[in-house]
Amino acid sequence: MCGIVGYTGSSQAAPILLDGLEKLEYRGYDSAGIAVFSKKKKSEPSIEVIKAKGRLKVLFEMTDSGKSVKGTCGIGHTRWATHGEPSVVNSHPQYAKDKRVVVVHNGIIENYQELKERLMRDGCEFVSATDTEVVAHLLDRYYDSDPIDAISKLMYHVRGSYALGILFQDRPGEIYAVRKDSPLIVGRSSGGNFIASDVPAILKYTRDVCFIENQVIVRLTGKDIQFFDVDKAELKKEFTQIQWDTEAAEKGGFKHFMLKEIYEQPKAVRDTISPRIKDGKVNLEELNLSQEELSSIRRIQMVACGSAYHVCMTARYMMEELVRIPVDVDLASEFRYRKPVLEENTLVIVISQSGETADSLAALREAKKLGHKVLAVVNVVGSSIAREADSVFYTWAGPEISVATTKAYSTQLAAVYLLAIVLGKARGMVDEQAEAEMVEELQRLPEKIERILEEKERIQWFANKFSHSKDIFFIGRGLDYASSLEGSLKLKEISYIHSEAYAAGELKHGTISLIEDGILVVGVATQSELFEKLISNMVEVKSRGAYVLGVTSYGNYNMEDVANYTIYVPKTMECFAASLVVIPLQLLAYYVALGKGLDVDKPRNLAKSVTVE
Ligand code: M6R
Repeated sequence: MCGIVGYTGSSQAAPILLDGLEKLEYRGYDSAGIAVFSKKKKSEPSIEVIKAKGRLKVLFEMTDSGKSVKGTCGIGHTRWATHGEPSVVNSHPQYAKDKRVVVVHNGIIENYQELKERLMRDGCEFVSATDTEVVAHLLDRYYDSDPIDAISKLMYHVRGSYALGILFQDRPGEIYAVRKDSPLIVGRSSGGNFIASDVPAILKYTRDVCFIENQVIVRLTGKDIQFFDVDKAELKKEFTQIQWDTEAAEKGGFKHFMLKEIYEQPKAVRDTISPRIKDGKVNLEELNLSQEELSSIRRIQMVACGSAYHVCMTARYMMEELVRIPVDVDLASEFRYRKPVLEENTLVIVISQSGETADSLAALREAKKLGHKVLAVVNVVGSSIAREADSVFYTWAGPEISVATTKAYSTQLAAVYLLAIVLGKARGMVDEQAEAEMVEELQRLPEKIERILEEKERIQWFANKFSHSKDIFFIGRGLDYASSLEGSLKLKEISYIHSEAYAAGELKHGTISLIEDGILVVGVATQSELFEKLISNMVEVKSRGAYVLGVTSYGNYNMEDVANYTIYVPKTMECFAASLVVIPLQLLAYYVALGKGLDVDKPRNLAKSVTVE
């Protein structure tokens, strides 16, 4: 939920830290801060801490883009407030008295209240409302010239999730870090070493990266990196080379990351599908699931949050029809606490772009505890969910920066299509011819997405008409209901317009009373069996004053008999239609938010990666 970064080496640290924080701002952006070993007094090392409320640009201005802060070793933080309002005092770095220990933290210390009370009884004074300040005071208490020992003691006392970057005042040039359930990577280069919450923060400086596992402590100097376990034993760690380049995480001429990522969808979908097609057949050997295992699956339980949950909803409709296997779908935040009863031979599928969503990770662990295999569909290589799952299907969307997911969503859809085909084959529901036809159509999806993007002006024009709406409804049936959920979430999260998605048949059980003159209702209709029914629902809302936007496939021209405005997408197999209708819905959300002059990539109150409950 927050972003942390650290650098120690031969260059000036502050500009590198700010640069890194800029790439992590998607993780939180209500305040930011840096701490750097100051060069003011050579004999007596001290740590300079600079913090600012608001967007990172305030910190850039305060420090002349970091140039005014001398020193070659430091840590930085960009915050998404959990404990305590966004303010200078609550922003990180947090520190104990005299800055003997300075800390940046991503995560939540669950037992902080109890620890804080104990520390206060012992005379400790707290200045902030954060859980992180407890960490600083505890480390200060445990520290007696051995940082690894102090961190190890801390790990035995705190509960919750954390990625910590730590400076000990009497250890200039050294950064310590540790993680549990919050992401942390280490990077190395000839000019110095780094820590960060995510790869883009340091990619400009190095591709040589190590994904830190849970409960591993790291010590970095400008020349050296050491890893330790919680019992202080030294560990050996592998580094990997990041293959994608910095442009993948830059705006590349687009006004917003969201628009850039919308445009990257043809490539992302192609990159996700192509490597899995061999000789015209779907090949998912990478999942290490044998034919026996696949054919013994009796039920599928899918879990995710937000948009990834909508992919699960799409998968349910699609897989139940194609594979004839029961598919249950749960929000991860509900699944983890509802004491689920899972039948034997249930395959659990967790979908997550970041691979770090706290609820999805907890759901995965719950499923494993119950003895079930977990297959994760994940975008971020080396993320917690990817590491803990039994099998991983990587979506090759590349880094997604905008808080509103677009290309990751599209690649997740592609992933569930491929999984459905493989499961369908294993259960004898998909024969060779059906597979060949589906594979051919899947390979055409990127080009069809491109065609929709070419018509973006029509959607932009329409979006401008409705950018001042108060409420917007989305209705659909079956697969189109799942797409409506996504269209509605996309719109509300970036435009702040109240929006709801309804299974169209459910509307008249209450919600239709909200329909009044001029309200926009978006009807999504791609499923021929349900088309007439959806049209009837659109007539119902129109006759109550709604302005109706129809989103359907070319050929369904009778949509125009009822819709005030119609957007067509290319025809595809109906089971893949979600991949096409979502594109105009994403563009609609984008242009409405743009029309309102909002910060599209960083909507209020949100963060890209939800690593807290
Ligand atoms: O990283 P994840 O896919 O696990 O994230 C899940 C949701 O937080 C995410 O899809 C969220 O709903 C997006 N902001 C939607 O655009």
